[in-house]
Amino acid sequence: MCGIVAYIGPRDAYPLLMKGLHRLEYRGYDSAGVCLLNDDLRVFKCKGKVSDLEDFVAGSDVSGNIGMAHTRWATHGEPNTINAHPHLSQNKTLAIIHNGIIENYTVLRSELKNRGYTFTSDTDTEVLVHLIEDIMINEHVSVEEAVRVALNEVIGAYAIVILAKDFPDKIIAARKGSPMVIGVGKDEFFIASDATPIIEYTNNVVYLNDEEIAIIERDHEIQIRTILNQKQTPYIEKLAMSLGEIEKGGFDHFMLKEIYEQPHSIYDSMRGRLHVDQGIVTLGGIRDWEQKILNAKRIIITACGTSWHAGLVGEYLIEDFARIPVEVEYSSEFRYRNPVLGEDDVVIAISQSGETADTLAAIELAKSKGATVLGICNVVGSSIARATHAGIYTHAGPEIGVASTKAFTAQVAVLTLLGLLLAQKKGTISQTEFQKILIELDRIPAKVQQILELSQKIKDIATIYKDVKNSLYLGRGYNFPVALEGALKLKEISYIHAEGYPAAEMKHGPIALIDELMPVVFIATRRGIYEKVITNIEEVKARKGRIIAIVTEGDETVKALADHWIEIPDTLEALIPLLATIPLQLLSYHIAVMLNRNVDQPRNLAKSVTVE
Ligand code: M6R
Repeated sequence: MCGIVAYIGPRDAYPLLMKGLHRLEYRGYDSAGVCLLNDDLRVFKCKGKVSDLEDFVAGSDVSGNIGMAHTRWATHGEPNTINAHPHLSQNKTLAIIHNGIIENYTVLRSELKNRGYTFTSDTDTEVLVHLIEDIMINEHVSVEEAVRVALNEVIGAYAIVILAKDFPDKIIAARKGSPMVIGVGKDEFFIASDATPIIEYTNNVVYLNDEEIAIIERDHEIQIRTILNQKQTPYIEKLAMSLGEIEKGGFDHFMLKEIYEQPHSIYDSMRGRLHVDQGIVTLGGIRDWEQKILNAKRIIITACGTSWHAGLVGEYLIEDFARIPVEVEYSSEFRYRNPVLGEDDVVIAISQSGETADTLAAIELAKSKGATVLGICNVVGSSIARATHAGIYTHAGPEIGVASTKAFTAQVAVLTLLGLLLAQKKGTISQTEFQKILIELDRIPAKVQQILELSQKIKDIATIYKDVKNSLYLGRGYNFPVALEGALKLKEISYIHAEGYPAAEMKHGPIALIDELMPVVFIATRRGIYEKVITNIEEVKARKGRIIAIVTEGDETVKALADHWIEIPDTLEALIPLLATIPLQLLSYHIAVMLNRNVDQPRNLAKSVTVE
């Protein structure tokens, strides 16, 4: 996690670095730091957020047009000022910022201690900067060569930037497993964890590949070498993102803006793919792989967090429509449990950021076993998008709020299209049924818009429940993943304990928790095994639980049982997750705001989990 940004060019580096750091703050906000290079390396850092750093730096000399900055999500060493980046080498001629984890840092640390190095922090990063200094001194090599040699000794993941006091016109950057993009302007270069700090200056970018080192010098072209010293030609790409997409646009929080963007983001994820008039679905990104998927013995979906919940919806959809067996795996478990995998398997990795370390490792494992690996990613050009054989972009636009909202519904929309495409090609669905689903899918954005208009009603419910300590979210069938997602949204931004369960499983344990203080959110829409869900609601009511129900418009049965209800438009059972998720996002949002939580940057979390 952690966000890094660096600059070399004619502009004042400090304001540009701070602006970039604010944009990257979603990646971690335990501490922040900046280094400017003039005659010396001037480092300012402190515990807390980027705004704390700005207060801390106020009044200091921050001149210079080469510098780098870092916002930290702590892995090794507590989140304090000492452990904040940048870190200096022992002789104070090198400074480093790092996103990732050096796994063999204890061994390297003790070797360096034996050679006389003193450590001032508890971080793995400090090891790397001392190691580079040690190599420079002992092997009499340039800083870039020392970085290359050092990286050959390192096990783990890194995106690093190094400034050297003796080379005031040069930046060294390298990556393995953590993202890094270089913006190429006229006479200037920008380096960052993602493109958001770069977009307002240039849309020409180079994505650094794993084990590549970039040597960026004033008035020179970028040079790229691998850590095995092979020269690479930088490949300049055009960014598709716009500045407007990464600003709040009048909303109080990015999360709210992103919730409200869903009519558009769902539409965008289907645009050019859903052809109601022609009665077909097309997915250009996987066209060449369709036969492989259709012949697959099974599909394995791997993901983390909210993307895993989307994967569960995908399992229901693909099995239901296309009759291909699907398993859904947490990437963090899948990568370590020696799964039975082969050439007949198709693995689908789902990720908003495209940078989640566990999902990337699951992809590598699947590839090594001969499986075909497809990606469903939101961030164009991300590591997962590049590591997979082919894939489908969700096109939800940048998601900045740490709690995933529009990315989830876009993932579900894309999985629905995939299920439909496979079903039509496989002949597991009649054309009449297929056409009916296409027509209904086309209506989803308008129905989402209708639900957003219920925000005030949902806010009123939030007022009543904001102070609870626990809550249960229950649903069955397609609504079970929705219950999991609703619970995750509440806990991550409000810090209220919430559990999602299949409604019928409640009686195998969680029912013991129900009393008059326990709110139970039922996703009780009138499709599928609706009657069975009503029985589950009765069971909660009999034990005096408080019931908040998501119901289908016009439903009177559930309304009569519930303490509060939120009506959503009717749709086909398979499409309900695209609608039922929306009120749960709003409920969490309103509760978190009322509790004064940091909605966009909840404690201990980061948007992009690039460590395992
Ligand atoms: O970028 P990814 O979709 O791979 O991220 C996976 C999870 O880290 C992410 O969904 C996380 O659970 C969110 N905070 C949920 O809102």
